[in-house]
Amino acid sequence: MTTATPASPLTPTLDPHALARTLSGKHLIGGALVPAASGRTFDVVNPARGDVVGQAAFGEAADVEAAVAAAAKAQKEWARRPARERGRLVADCGRALQAHVEELARLITLETGKALRTESRVEAGVLSDSFVFYGGLAPELKGETVPFSPTVMTITQREPIGIVGAIIPWNVPLLLMALKIAPALVAGNAVIVKSAEEAPLAVLRVCQIINQILPPGLFNMLSGFGPDCGAPLVAHPKVGKITFTGSVETGRIVYRTAAEKLIPVTLELGGKSPMIVLADADLDKAVAGAITGMRFTRQGQSCTAASRIFVHRSIHDDFVARLKAKVDAMVMGDPLDEKTDIGTIVSPQQFEKVQGYIAAGKAEGGTAHTCSALPTAEALSPGLFVQPVIFTGLTNDSRLAREEIFGPVTCVIVFDDYEEAITQANDTEYGLAATIWTNDLKKALDATQRLEAGLVQVNQNLVVQPNISYGGVKTSGLGKEASLEAMLEHFTHKKTIMINMA
Ligand code: NAI
Ligand code: MG
Repeated sequence: MTTATPASPLTPTLDPHALARTLSGKHLIGGALVPAASGRTFDVVNPARGDVVGQAAFGEAADVEAAVAAAAKAQKEWARRPARERGRLVADCGRALQAHVEELARLITLETGKALRTESRVEAGVLSDSFVFYGGLAPELKGETVPFSPTVMTITQREPIGIVGAIIPWNVPLLLMALKIAPALVAGNAVIVKSAEEAPLAVLRVCQIINQILPPGLFNMLSGFGPDCGAPLVAHPKVGKITFTGSVETGRIVYRTAAEKLIPVTLELGGKSPMIVLADADLDKAVAGAITGMRFTRQGQSCTAASRIFVHRSIHDDFVARLKAKVDAMVMGDPLDEKTDIGTIVSPQQFEKVQGYIAAGKAEGGTAHTCSALPTAEALSPGLFVQPVIFTGLTNDSRLAREEIFGPVTCVIVFDDYEEAITQANDTEYGLAATIWTNDLKKALDATQRLEAGLVQVNQNLVVQPNISYGGVKTSGLGKEASLEAMLEHFTHKKTIMINMA
């Protein structure tokens, strides 16, 4: 039994450049940091300055094979341990990660361009909290008794699936990784994580830290590109479950392969989340909610971004003016600087995509209210900075209101009538999150029943919490993440056992 909180045996390294160099070119397989089987690597680039800060191992099928072999070996013994012992070790991982929040935050900032103070530190904190949270849920892996017959004892039992493949994106890699691997491990599975090509190093550092606590091979991490490394992981016959966060397009590819293998998937995909602001809403709160909801501090790179804001005509101009003033006051700059609110877009591809949407919005007749000021420092001139844009004058049929932008661009759409706002909010292929802002109790309650989304909030726009189940409807995905429900429903099989006593 573990008694004391383990101090991490690894010394935190606060210089992210030094840390990036020491982590360069490695996967974690079978408890060891190893290069790719091919020896190939690819560059990790700092989007704020355009410089190469390290290398990542170029994962391919041979690396997947090695990770699966290590995972298969470790999983059997792990699954036989008492649930609470597994939980204690996973919670220990969370406490060890707590000592690394600052270094992880700096490293994730270096490779993604997210601001340290407003984004990365928060994310690294929730990462460690998620491990502690799921560790404590281990005793809840309970089954049921079924009142089938007095002479046939019928029970259900939760069993691990085996090897789980976890494919994560670059926008919140640490948090999204935690919500996948912590419940999977507590439930008795082994895990193979495939990091996103843009953000492999902080994920690898997390793996190195928890590898000091978990048995070797139980937890493996591969870096690499989707088709080269993600696809063979999904296709591997011994991988029994895929949990994926990313684009709808890639989600469909993953689902097709999983369908061939007949294995379960959890898919967290895109969104076009509506925010409805009624005439009586507290405007200051709604404006603050739009800023959090739009994730302006993350350059809008969020699947739940409140990218369609429906505002009643009577308060429209006031709302836009207040929102613009608040976003104008946000500081764009060096993501590692404590004064910075808004950093950079993650990659040149995303940068081009976002610029394309801003041009499309103007071409469709929208008025672009461009906010905040670009940084002027010479060293940041290669940086992928995009000024936040609030569009007005567009309708819900416009491209900007229909497609996921994944950038700091939102549309404020005017409405006259509550029914019209609800209809338009639901008129989208997505269904991840929605909010309504009003003090009218009847309308607020009505909206919670009618908005088509996995998460509906009234007068708030909170971000993902470890104990709140999260996941979309329509093309936003399948299944839930976070919460006890996600662990039970998505990382275990339920076996029924019938014992004839007659
Ligand atoms: P993506 O969905 O292609 O990538 C997400 C992850 O899937 C990465 O780890 C990637 O390597 C992996 N992947 C890609 N192709 C794969 C395949 N064939 N098999 C297995 N794994 C594969 O997203 P990407 O290219 O980074 O961004 C494109 C767009 O997707 C963004 O502009 C944004 O709109 C959306 N997106 C949504 C996210 C969300 O949180 N829902 C996160 C990231 C991107
Ligand atoms: Mg892609």
